Amino acid sequence: MPKNKRAKYKAIKSFQNVFEIPYSSAQEDFKYKGKWHKDFFKNDYPIVLELGCGKGEYSVALAQRYPEKNFIGVDIKGDRLYKGAVDAIEKELPNVAFIRSQIQFVTSFFVPNEVDEIWLTFPDPQLQKPRHRKRLTAPEFLKKYSNIIRKNGIVHLKTDNTELFEFTIDVVKNMNQKMLCVNDDIYALPAPEEVTGIKTYYEELFAAKGEKIKYLSFALNI
Ligand SMILES: C[S@@+](CC[C@H](N)C(=O)[O-])C[C@H]1O[C@@H](n2cnc3c(N)ncnc32)[C@H](O)[C@@H]1O
Repeated sequence: MPKNKRAKYKAIKSFQNVFEIPYSSAQEDFKYKGKWHKDFFKNDYPIVLELGCGKGEYSVALAQRYPEKNFIGVDIKGDRLYKGAVDAIEKELPNVAFIRSQIQFVTSFFVPNEVDEIWLTFPDPQLQKPRHRKRLTAPEFLKKYSNIIRKNGIVHLKTDNTELFEFTIDVVKNMNQKMLCVNDDIYALPAPEEVTGIKTYYEELFAAKGEKIKYLSFALNI
C-alpha cells in the first residue's frame, strides 16, 4: 500500500470506484450526471452523498449497513479518498464510489432528484467571517443541495464546532426548511445508532480533545 501522497494520487487514477473531476472541467456536466443509477450502480437504489468525506468512513460503513442504498463520497483530497476507496474494494462493496472534486460543483455531477440524502461529516468550520460563505451549510451550498436532492431529502450534519452548529440551525430556519433533529451531545443524549456507531478520523481527533460531538438533521425541498 503506497504511503506517500503522490503515490496515492497516482493509485486512485486506476480505481474503478473513484472519479477525478478537475477544476477545469467541473463546470461541465459529468458523464454520470442523471445516469448514476443506469450506467454506474446498475440499480435504482437511493443515492446518499457524503460531502467532505475525507477517508470516507461514513460512506463505507453505511454501505455495509445498507446494501440497498448507493453511497458517493466527495472530497478534494485524493490521499484521503484513497483510504475509503481501498476499504470499499477490500470489503467488496459495489455500492460505494468517490468523486475527487470541489463540492461547489455538485450540480455538475447530479440532476434534480437524483440524490436521496446527504451527510456532512465534520466539515471545516471556516471560523473567519469572510469565510462563512464557504461553510458547507452556508445558504449558497444548501441551495445547490436543494437542486439535486429529492423532495424532503434529509441532510445530516455531525460536528464538534458549536459556532458551525448554531450557524446551521439559523440558516435552516431562515431558509424555511424543516429541522428534524438537534442534539448537541450525541454520547450523552439519545441518538440513532448510525450517528454514534460510526466515527470518522476527525471525530476521533476532536473527541480525544474532549469536544462534545453534535448532530443535527433537516429536510430540504419541503
Ligand atoms: C475536517 S475534514 C473532515 C473529513 C472527514 N469527513 C472526517 O470527519 O474525518 C474536512 C474535509 O472536507 C474537505 N473539503 C472541504 N471543503 C471542500 C470543498 N469545497 N470541496 C471538496 N472537499 C472539501 C477537505 O478536503 C477535508 O477532507
